Amino acid sequence: MTITAETRLVGLFGYPVGHSLSPAMHNAAFAALGLNLRYVAFPVPPEHLADAVRALRALSFRGVNVTIPHKVAIVPFLDALDEEARAIGAVNTVIVEADGRLVGTNTDGRGYVRSLLEETGVDLAAQRVLILGAGGAARAVAISLARCGAPRIAIANRTPEKAAELAAHVASYADAWAVPPERLADAVREATLLVNTTSVGMVPHADETPLPPEWLHDGLVVSDLVYRPLKTRLLREAEARGLVTHGGLGMLIHQGALAFERWTGRSAPVALMRDAALRALAAEKEGKDC
Ligand code: ATR
Repeated sequence: MTITAETRLVGLFGYPVGHSLSPAMHNAAFAALGLNLRYVAFPVPPEHLADAVRALRALSFRGVNVTIPHKVAIVPFLDALDEEARAIGAVNTVIVEADGRLVGTNTDGRGYVRSLLEETGVDLAAQRVLILGAGGAARAVAISLARCGAPRIAIANRTPEKAAELAAHVASYADAWAVPPERLADAVREATLLVNTTSVGMVPHADETPLPPEWLHDGLVVSDLVYRPLKTRLLREAEARGLVTHGGLGMLIHQGALAFERWTGRSAPVALMRDAALRALAAEKEGKDC
């Protein structure tokens, strides 16, 4: 579709944004549905965030995704947060309402849960969850798992104080506690669903893994938020042991699909968005700039 005077923008505010797969994913979806929208990634330095948010209304944006380092910093510049964003305490999607109000939501956690259920079929109510990491991604995943019915959530982190802080927050929604580093092996043994939210195993450190493979045990579902590479060492070792695994691409696709639905009011073409993201990843691997 050609760009016209009616073309409206959505996009991404982050810093940096260079490796985002979202433009490929959303623009493919807009084209397939014949929507006169374009998705552009904007590198917004922190000192320009307030101006960038003000521009959303002035330039008739439909909305934006928000990523590191703006997910919490953007909150004071918005008119309202929905319940999900309030529970998580961070925003990954802004919707510009018809009356110009800027509403923040967070589709990261729900995108994760949708993808997990779609790819593994686990019964959340029966899980003993162990989350590795206590950063922004862990927060969204832990809160959404708890809100969607996971009754027990243990959190282990390199910096134990952050695990304790997150566990205290999640405790409003489920039985949640922090795992002291010396008890990590026991916590893995007791878990039925392990979720790596740290960047351990991500390119360029794809040879790393957050756990010794001998800690993996029968019946453990292993989920990794990392999607560069698509199959991390943790997932490869879990697969080699015959375990059910879940990679990080599904969360990226579904958080995007949920944002797409809020901006357009249409069902997201999820399979097509996944193909577009996979093509962009493959092009990246070949070093092509497209
Ligand atoms: P994100 O938004 O992706 O969650 P983040 O908020 O910076 O990013 O959180 C990164 C998480 O990965 C943290 O839990 C971090 O541990 P610390 O709290 O101790 O910093 C964890 N992490 C990053 N690199 C790690 C490493 N090499 N080993 C263990 N944990 C690591």
